[in-house]
Amino acid sequence: MDFFSRREFLDRSAILAATFAAGSQTLRAEEPAAVKSGSANDKLRVAVIGVRSRGMAHVNGFAGKNNCEVVTICDCDEAVIQPAMRDVEKVQKSAPKFEKDIRKVMDDKSIDIVSIATPNHWHALAAVWAMRAGKHVYCEKPATHNVHEGRLMVQASRKYQKLCQVGTQSRSNTGMRDAIAYIHAGKIGKVSLAYGTCYKSRKSIGKVDGAQEPPKTMDYDLWCGPARVLQPHRKTQFGTVHYDWHWTWEYGNGDFGNQGVHEADKARWGLNLPGLPTSVVSVGGRFGYVDDGETPNTQLNLYDFGTAQMLFEVRGLDTKDYQGTKVGNIWFGDKGIVVCPSYSGGIAYDLAGNKLQEFKGGGDQQHFDNFVKAVRSGKQSDLNCDVEEGHLSAALCHLGNISYRLGTASNLRDDIKVFDGFGGAKEAFARMKAHLADNKVDAATAKCFVGKKLILDPKSETFTGADMAKANDMLFREYRKGFDIREAV
Ligand SMILES: NC(=O)c1ccc[n+]([C@@H]2O[C@H](COP(=O)([O-])OP(=O)(O)OC[C@H]3O[C@@H](n4cnc5c(N)ncnc54)[C@H](O)[C@@H]3O)[C@@H](O)[C@H]2O)c1
Repeated sequence: MDFFSRREFLDRSAILAATFAAGSQTLRAEEPAAVKSGSANDKLRVAVIGVRSRGMAHVNGFAGKNNCEVVTICDCDEAVIQPAMRDVEKVQKSAPKFEKDIRKVMDDKSIDIVSIATPNHWHALAAVWAMRAGKHVYCEKPATHNVHEGRLMVQASRKYQKLCQVGTQSRSNTGMRDAIAYIHAGKIGKVSLAYGTCYKSRKSIGKVDGAQEPPKTMDYDLWCGPARVLQPHRKTQFGTVHYDWHWTWEYGNGDFGNQGVHEADKARWGLNLPGLPTSVVSVGGRFGYVDDGETPNTQLNLYDFGTAQMLFEVRGLDTKDYQGTKVGNIWFGDKGIVVCPSYSGGIAYDLAGNKLQEFKGGGDQQHFDNFVKAVRSGKQSDLNCDVEEGHLSAALCHLGNISYRLGTASNLRDDIKVFDGFGGAKEAFARMKAHLADNKVDAATAKCFVGKKLILDPKSETFTGADMAKANDMLFREYRKGFDIREAV
């Protein structure tokens, strides 16, 4: 596959090297000195950016809670702001200000917190702009659209001494925290494998002829922001622009970077490893329909961290569960396993299948509460999902996607070798093929991409070895003039 056929680009590898050299002291930054914060009595003034869908959870997570006031709603499509206005007014008895241009929010010195629920390609830039402008940030998952901008986000948080919480909200759920603490305490022994599953049915988005128009109510140039302005090429229940950008590489990261990043985050958290893996390989395809989406709906990813491995599966076609979980996690220890089929907990078993302990409890609000509490204490260590965690977990999705995108087209042959040597992965691959057969995907003709095994240096967060130029290019993107994240860090 050729992703850079329209490359007008500079040499991304050189950019990566230069930025890492400049920021290398902060690569594993210590806790910053106390961050200037509000006391419990000070009202915190919040701006929510992007309010069509998830942003409404942000509005309701802040408005009237924890002595916060939503003072500004920002969306580059003015057609979507009404419900947000109504919800804020209902709780606060006064309407917030509306801004169409995100840059005006950054300029408003009275705002303490910027809460970001835009599409993925905007997350890192909006967060960095906000921190540079002196605001604390709550940023939706995945923290980033590519690996390197995550490291820049971490650097910005440390440099500007601003807190940045990433919206993988399981991190604050009591049940999930208890399950992870149980694993970290060694209760299921040494954990050598973490499994994440994103089995979520995703229908075809259909196929339309030719370019479509963005809504007239939208500033589409701003919507595209740091990414290229591609004429939308889809028309779905969400219109031509909203939501289905997830399935286009320019703006989204497939379901791995959508639902899957929650489970990748939990898998990594349970393994309790500090950085990125040393290798990654991914196999998959967009099977079962032909439509305008580009990202795979079926993917199996294997990560090697040296002392442990992580397997991650994406299934967008109808499927049965795996060991009781569809969207969830399993950690395999030498004394037992923990199965978490939801964001809010699960069950530990011994190796004979006897139940050892159950974990439950939590809800979205806990993550907003935790963030505001940390803003008031000014301590990064009070955050349940500091930007560094968000960056590393998002990076797992991006690394898998890079391996997949650099893959070789094949049919679903039995002799695909990339998982040799990894029993669990070979077995998972066999299950993936059986699942595709259940969905009447013809193994002989289906177009599968067999990913390149990529070797990574976790310290520099770059690929090493021969022929890695293209893979390293894909760790970053070309930013449009006026939207360059490097200029803001
Ligand atoms: N944590 C969770 O459980 C969870 C759940 C759903 C979505 N999300 C994340 O939330 C984000 C938003 O998802 P969604 O489903 O609401 O997407 P969406 O496409 O439905 O809505 C995004 C909104 O952001 C607006 N927007 C885009 N660029 C903007 C800009 N520069 N300035 C102001 N507004 C801008 C769009 O006009 C739109 O109204 C995604 O990153 C998604 O991954 C997280």
